[in-house]
Amino acid sequence: MLKNFLEVAIETAQDAGKILREEMERPPAISHKAEFDLVTQADRRSEALIVSRLQKYFPGHAVAAEEGSGKDTGSEYRWHVDPLDGTTNFAHAYPCFCVSLALARKNELLLGVIYNPIYNELFTAARGEGAFFNGKKIHCSKIDALKNSLLCTGFPNHDRESNPNFRFYWDFTLRSHGVRRDGSAALDLAYVAMGRFDSFWEFGLNPWDTAAGVVLVEEAGGKISDMQGQPYVLGGPSILASNGNIHEEMLRVVAEVTGQTLSHP
Ligand code: IPD
Ligand code: CA
Ligand code: CA
Repeated sequence: MLKNFLEVAIETAQDAGKILREEMERPPAISHKAEFDLVTQADRRSEALIVSRLQKYFPGHAVAAEEGSGKDTGSEYRWHVDPLDGTTNFAHAYPCFCVSLALARKNELLLGVIYNPIYNELFTAARGEGAFFNGKKIHCSKIDALKNSLLCTGFPNHDRESNPNFRFYWDFTLRSHGVRRDGSAALDLAYVAMGRFDSFWEFGLNPWDTAAGVVLVEEAGGKISDMQGQPYVLGGPSILASNGNIHEEMLRVVAEVTGQTLSHP
């Protein structure tokens, strides 16, 4: 059954990716959800395809989709759908965006699929079966010291002024090879899973931003927590994903920067 879920998720993400590629060919039809929070025709067309496809194959399943066209059926199965993660990049024709789909049963994430249609990069993972990049098994990096690492973070489009991240951005930049800010949380997590980045963190993400990436990182041997070292909860205030080896060191830096003692054992 899990295989069928994954097959449908892959096919759906690739077909939604075709829409994003098509939409890239014309000037973006942009509107604003808030001052700096963009939505385009591409987000809406991609979501319409994904939601109708999931409803066709799994009519009873709940679908939580970013642009609001999903439905809560009350099922224990729930799809987390980001039809276009990296809308700001898309709107500026910066080719770093993707489709992100995940399936959860109750509180357990079963699978994640992330697809960048411009580079044709497909990331897939099913619980207990490993993580894959274009069909090849992937693992997180082996870097074991922050000073040798390449990191990534993001800044949400909402509540920009109260976001605490600038402090961490500054501090981690000085302690690592650098911190990238690529503008697609789902791809950032996929890159941790395949070892391009050694860690990613962000505040204020939604379940559809992180659900697929969390499965990928965990199945690739990495570690996920919140920024205090507590278990990450989908939609929780912060996420810290890493290759596992530098996780504790990063949490020590967080504690130092915030002037707190670590709240985990
Ligand atoms: C955004 C991207 C970005 C992150 C923002 C998200 P969207 O998603 O993932 O990298 O920094 O917090 O909202 O709006 O492009 O789907
Ligand atoms: Ca997103
Ligand atoms: Ca989105």
